[in-house]
Amino acid sequence: MNSGADFIVVANRLPVDLERAPDGTQRWKHSPGGLVSALEPFLRSKSGAWVGWPGVADVDVDEFEDDGLRLIPVTLSATDVRDYYEGFSNATLWPLYHDVVEAPVFDRAWWDSYVKVNHRFAEAAAAVASPGATVWVQDYQLQLVPQLLREQRPDLRIGFFLHIPFPPVELFMQLPWRTEIVRGLLGADLVGFHRPGGAQNFLWLARRLVGLEPSRAAVGVRTRPGLIHVGDRPVRVGAFPISIDSAGLDGLARKRDTIQRAQQIRADLGNPKKILLGVDRLDYTKGIDVRLNALQELLIEGRVDPDEVTMVQLATPSRERVEHYQRMRQGIEQVVSRINGEFGKVGHPVVHYLHQSVDRRELVAFYSAADVMLVTPVRDGMNLVCKEYVACRHDLGGTLVLSEFAGAAAELTSAFLVNPHDLDGVKNALHAALTIDPAEGRRRMRALRRQVLTHDVDRWARSFLEALGSQGLN
Ligand code: ADP
Ligand code: G6P
Repeated sequence: MNSGADFIVVANRLPVDLERAPDGTQRWKHSPGGLVSALEPFLRSKSGAWVGWPGVADVDVDEFEDDGLRLIPVTLSATDVRDYYEGFSNATLWPLYHDVVEAPVFDRAWWDSYVKVNHRFAEAAAAVASPGATVWVQDYQLQLVPQLLREQRPDLRIGFFLHIPFPPVELFMQLPWRTEIVRGLLGADLVGFHRPGGAQNFLWLARRLVGLEPSRAAVGVRTRPGLIHVGDRPVRVGAFPISIDSAGLDGLARKRDTIQRAQQIRADLGNPKKILLGVDRLDYTKGIDVRLNALQELLIEGRVDPDEVTMVQLATPSRERVEHYQRMRQGIEQVVSRINGEFGKVGHPVVHYLHQSVDRRELVAFYSAADVMLVTPVRDGMNLVCKEYVACRHDLGGTLVLSEFAGAAAELTSAFLVNPHDLDGVKNALHAALTIDPAEGRRRMRALRRQVLTHDVDRWARSFLEALGSQGLN
């Protein structure tokens, strides 16, 4: 029997994903998405345990250690994956919390599965936590875990952080299980959101749905959390904007290998005058269509010359069995082929679309090679890609076009900020970024780097855990 852990992260996914090849062999690879990108470097520098799903259905894996980190797998059956993960998490909560940009599906069997799987995660965390340990529950897939865990282990200090936006109350109120979710979150000692607005919405819902008396003062960024008493137990509700391992990326971007690889990428693309880059999970919230439509219109109008400008879109495959995602993928691939059909030449497509995940070094080389980074989500809790781009530009080159509807826009005010619903605005910003005066570009990038390098993921985690009063860090 393994000993208990003092500090435990509980997330739907482990930081590594099991991949099974058709020949039956299997290997662990890095899990997709911002949650893992942010938390993994932080947790690896501590001694902790991580409870999560290994990413494939019906596998029973024993606890194992990966580079000093204790990984505790939770098994999901194929039905759990369909109903809890693809269903309630990603076809109900995901669209509902992202401003219903796609219609959320409310299915009672999916909710039952969500409850059942949240119980399983709570039990796994309760089994591994040492007395008085800190348990940090992550994200929308596990919103019932704080309360379920508290019922089993009142001795624990429990934090919860939501990595996606928390919606306006009018939208949240559509959810048939809205009160259960709010009660689930109230099991934590500290509930964290990216932005004060999310915290404020949650405080309102605790009053309206649970009849509690939350504090009324405005919540600050990393300061002045709201307070709710659940019986005699205080629950704090705060805003903690997440970030990245800024120094790690800056260091990687400065390496000679990376610089050479970036030059090679430019050469492979035919040394165009300007390279545009998009990097996203293939998700309908990311506004990949927005940037492609903007580029297409600029090409049609002759404001962008296809002989001078090349775009690269890296898109990690994501949630491929969910219908919303299948539709979106078709739409994007059609625009890519339309642009290349109209404006490409043999050996020189205008848009290079890779439906692939690339490794970290390669990604840093792409960031280093790109003149304009396009981050145009219609809604995003934070968005780490824009911060990664900035961290990689020690040369002060490159221009960032960023949606106002990404959480990061509140911090990265020196980017070209755009409303992704205003196509003319996006086109003008894209054009301005392509034609920017180099001195103005450097000025903007310097200001962006000041923000990103001083507000890294370590600071995020420490500010959250300090507010939680955690003793579990070493
Ligand atoms: P989300 O968490 O919604 O996916 P974020 O922008 O917060 O969005 O985080 C995405 C993370 O996934 C970043 O760390 C980014 O570098 C990584 N990523 C996205 N697309 C790719 C890709 N095609 N290849 C490698 N990494 C990617
Ligand atoms: C976002 C979510 C994470 C999720 C990631 C990847 O970052 O906030 O919770 O892990 O996307 O999505 P996936 O469904 O593949 O885990």
